[in-house]
Amino acid sequence: MSATVAVIGAGVIGRTHIRILRELPADEGRLAAIVDPSEAAARLAVEAGVPHFLDADTMLDAVRPDGVVIATPNALHVAGARACIGRGIAVLVEKPLADDLDDALALAGEADHAGVPLLVGHYRRHNPLVQAARTAIQQGRLGRIATISADSMVMKPDSYFNVAWRREAGGGPVLINLVHDIDALRYLCGEIDTVQAVTGHAARGFAVEDSAAVLLRFRTGALATLTLSDAVPSPWCWDQTAGENPAFVRHPGNAYRICGTEASLEMPDMALWRYAGRRGWSEPLTREVLDVRRCDPLVAQMRHFLRVIRREEAPLVSGHDGAATLAATLAVHRSAKTGEAVRPYAP
Ligand SMILES: NC(=O)c1ccc[n+]([C@@H]2O[C@H](COP(=O)([O-])OP(=O)(O)OC[C@H]3O[C@@H](n4cnc5c(N)ncnc54)[C@H](O)[C@@H]3O)[C@@H](O)[C@H]2O)c1
Repeated sequence: MSATVAVIGAGVIGRTHIRILRELPADEGRLAAIVDPSEAAARLAVEAGVPHFLDADTMLDAVRPDGVVIATPNALHVAGARACIGRGIAVLVEKPLADDLDDALALAGEADHAGVPLLVGHYRRHNPLVQAARTAIQQGRLGRIATISADSMVMKPDSYFNVAWRREAGGGPVLINLVHDIDALRYLCGEIDTVQAVTGHAARGFAVEDSAAVLLRFRTGALATLTLSDAVPSPWCWDQTAGENPAFVRHPGNAYRICGTEASLEMPDMALWRYAGRRGWSEPLTREVLDVRRCDPLVAQMRHFLRVIRREEAPLVSGHDGAATLAATLAVHRSAKTGEAVRPYAP
């Protein structure tokens, strides 16, 4: 059964969702409407042959879509999602779920209470590379995870910072980029027990951070270091090595190293390092590359959302999940400010 989906917010990511919906087979799902006050969105709706609305409530009552994608600026996520949940309409909310942890938790609770599916747009979980790594970890192929090192080092172009909010607190790479790595690591390694961090802004000199070094301790005892910067020429980040987003040039290299007592996995090249014979640092390691069929994780996310709408699957990233990832990400800022380890909310 085909499901109808409206998109609220037709900016950078909203247009990607719109394109994906338009390219899907009609018997799977189709774009029903676009809500966005901009003239560019009105033109896009004409091109797509769907009605255009200036506000969400009017669209929801007039069109009654089966599902809605909320791709507005962060501050509007909660109000948009509430309008859908109140009408019993399944919703995919872009990350971060909310600006604030209390709002995120309240929204997650409302969706549960109403029995309306809420999916958070942490699309990296839909990447087959991430899913294959999770399966390998859950099958015990890595043994007990001891350490994880994750890199997120890029150079954002100077023009990126022409927009004022990107130079101010909250507009930096912790909440915009690191949130994806934290969510992926939670998906792979489980709940985070404590977060410690230092942040710096010396590279660009803006009020917002441009770099951070983060330590995570997982409930399992696994320890992670995350290194983040948006002011350095480097291929070592997920976006530039995984090849999942055509907006980024793909370079060889890895973003994550997950090291267990039986084997260690590099991602995204999916090389598994282990001893085939005797163990010990004088012995040769073998390198086996896990065979994974790649796909566009944003398309996989939309297909999952359509199954969620039809109640065939539960959301892969629930509201409580989105809240926990937000909590751990906000904890980076709190720890950097106080110098103390922070224990974030976990479901
Ligand atoms: N999953 C990802 O990798 C990813 C990537 C980019 C952005 N995002 C998230 O998506 C959201 C949007 O980011 P963006 O980069 O597309 O921003 P953007 O500024 O390009 O687009 C936002 C759009 O929302 C519209 N809008 C503003 N107020 C509105 C309202 N009241 N009703 C309807 N539309 C309204 C704007 O006109 C604009 O077109 C953010 O929460 C961001 O964090 C996620």
